[in-house]
Amino acid sequence: MFETPDSLPCIALRRIRKGFRMPQGRTEILRDLSFSLFPRDSVGISGTSGAGKSTFLNILAALELPDSGEVLWNGESIHTWPSRALARRRASQIGFVFQSCHLVPELDLLENLLLPCRISGRCLSADGSKRAEYLLERLGLSSHRHSLPMGLSGGERQRVAIARAFMNHPRLIVADEPTGNLDESTGEQVMQLLEDMRQEEQTALLLVTHHLPFSRRMQRQYQLHQGVLAPL
Ligand SMILES: Nc1ncnc2c1ncn2[C@@H]1O[C@H](COP(=O)(O)OP(=O)(O)OP(=O)(O)O)[C@@H](O)[C@H]1O
Ligand SMILES: [Mg+2]
Repeated sequence: MFETPDSLPCIALRRIRKGFRMPQGRTEILRDLSFSLFPRDSVGISGTSGAGKSTFLNILAALELPDSGEVLWNGESIHTWPSRALARRRASQIGFVFQSCHLVPELDLLENLLLPCRISGRCLSADGSKRAEYLLERLGLSSHRHSLPMGLSGGERQRVAIARAFMNHPRLIVADEPTGNLDESTGEQVMQLLEDMRQEEQTALLLVTHHLPFSRRMQRQYQLHQGVLAPL
């Protein structure tokens, strides 16, 4: 899906509008927002709580639809794609890391890592296991491969979430406040790991963070303010 020359955006948002019904009436969260993401790009997004950062990510990853405007993946409008095809493409091309890790508590680490494979239907089980073992080793979690997430520290859980995000060799990692639940030094380690993995795996990274120093480590930085992205 994202096999584009580097000069062409792998994801583009054109004139996106999105609003929600709120107690005080309908509120516009995104107002005519346009944005392009390129292969191997790294972009930091900051903004106050409620500015619409997660809404922006959800629309870019086609988890939510805009009220108007267009979302293009590899130059193709996603709006006509059947939802199952969209889900498969998303699972094979985008890895997600959230503030709370969203690991499945009943599954051990290895099985948690294999989930994106199963959803995308893309890899054979032997390939999937090999990749999962590699990522657990790379992120220093091999000895925990058969542990349940509950037994891990917050930083370790977030490392598992990062490993899982990279499982399908995605073109893009979307990270929404990945260090939001961590103390400063663990947050720094997780951030460094995310950057190292991005380099090694040659993915694009879209990072939403309240922590401006982390945002500044990206090639481009924006602030989401009053419904549009302003370069920082
Ligand atoms: N499904 C929804 N229904 C109604 N309102 C919503 C919905 N999703 C988001 N909102 C509202 O839209 C606004 C933007 O939400 P969003 O989660 O995108 O903000 P954010 O910038 O990610 O905030 P935070 O930094 O706290 O995570 C908020 O006021 C939120 O309450
Ligand atoms: Mg948010």
